Amino acid sequence: MAKEKVLVLNATGKVGRNVCRALLDAGFEVYGTTRSENSPLASQGIKPVVCNYTIRYDLDKAFKETGAKKVFVITDYFGAAKSNADLEYRQGQDAIDAAKAAGVDHLIFMSVADAEFFNEHVKHLKAKVALEKYVRESGVPYSILRPCAFFENFDDPANWNPLKKGVVKFLTEQDCKYCATYDIGRSAAIQFKNPQEWLGKTLDVIAWQGNLSQVAKALSRVSGVPVKAKLAMPKFLRKLFLKDLHHMFLYYEDENGPRGTPQEFKKVLPDAMSAEDWFRFHGKYSNGEKIVSEK
Ligand SMILES: NC(=O)c1ccc[n+]([C@@H]2O[C@H](COP(=O)([O-])OP(=O)(O)OC[C@H]3O[C@@H](n4cnc5c(N)ncnc54)[C@H](OP(=O)(O)O)[C@@H]3O)[C@@H](O)[C@H]2O)c1
Repeated sequence: MAKEKVLVLNATGKVGRNVCRALLDAGFEVYGTTRSENSPLASQGIKPVVCNYTIRYDLDKAFKETGAKKVFVITDYFGAAKSNADLEYRQGQDAIDAAKAAGVDHLIFMSVADAEFFNEHVKHLKAKVALEKYVRESGVPYSILRPCAFFENFDDPANWNPLKKGVVKFLTEQDCKYCATYDIGRSAAIQFKNPQEWLGKTLDVIAWQGNLSQVAKALSRVSGVPVKAKLAMPKFLRKLFLKDLHHMFLYYEDENGPRGTPQEFKKVLPDAMSAEDWFRFHGKYSNGEKIVSEK
C-alpha cells in the first residue's frame, strides 16, 4: 500500500526536524519545507520542498507539488514573524487557507499548552490563541497539539545555550513541564492515523515535570559525569532583558501553571520521553561529543 503523504512546514527547525523524523518512523511519506536549496533533509529520508512557509504562493505550490492531504503547521513569532504577533497570525492564516484550498483532510496546528492563560506581557503566544480560533472556524479538518517547554532548549546554541559537558543551564531552576519535539511528532502520527478519534480535538504534549537539579541528575546518570545546574542568567536580568519570556516563566513556575500533566499525556503516548530519555535520544553535546561515552 502507498504510504500516506504528510507535508511538514518549517521542517528544518527544532520542532520540524524531529516531527519529520517521528512521522518517518511511523511510516509516513514525509515532505518538509525549507527555503534552502541545500538542506540536509534528503539525507534524513525527508523529501525537501523548497518553499518559504510564510509566502502563500510558495505554500500553494508545495501542496500542488507534493499532493499531500495531511499537513503539520508550525508558526514562529521570534524568527519568521520577527517578533510581530500580527505577522505570525497572518502567516498562520495563510497556511490554513492554503491547506483549505488544497483540500487537506487533516491539518495539525502546533500551538502551546495553556496559551490563553499567559498575561499580557507574553506577546509571543498571542497569535497561537488567535490561530487556534481561526483553525477551528476554518472548515479544515484539524487537530491541535499544545506542547510545553522543549527539552531541546537545553541544547540551543542559537539562543546562547549550547549543551556542555558537566553543566545544564536554563532560564528557570524551578519545577517546569517539558516535552521532546520528537514526541510532538509521535503525537502527530497518532492523530493522523486515528482521525475519527482526533479530528476537532486538542492534546497537551507534557511528558515530564521536574526542576533544574533533577534535569542535571538525569544528564549525570546518562553521561556518567557530575553535572551542575545553573541559571542561564540571574532572574533580575531575565526580567530586565527578556520581559516576554520572563512572564512566560512566571506562569510555568507558579504551582497553578500549565494544567496538563505527564500522567494525562501518557494515556496517549505511554513511553513519552523523560529528561533522562531525552539526553539519551539527543546523544551529543553541542560540540558534537557523545554524551554516553563509548568504553
Ligand atoms: N522553545 C520552546 O520551548 C517552545 C515550546 C512550545 C512551543 N514553541 C514554539 O515553537 C515554534 C518555533 O519552532 P522551532 O523552535 O522549530 O523554530 P526554529 O528552530 O527557530 O526553526 C526556524 C526555522 O524557520 C525557518 N525560518 C527562519 N527564519 C525564517 C524567515 N524569516 N522566513 C521563513 N522561514 C524562516 C528556518 O528554516 P529554513 O531556513 O530551512 O527555511 C528555520 O530552520 C514557535 O512557534 C514557538 O512558539 C517553542
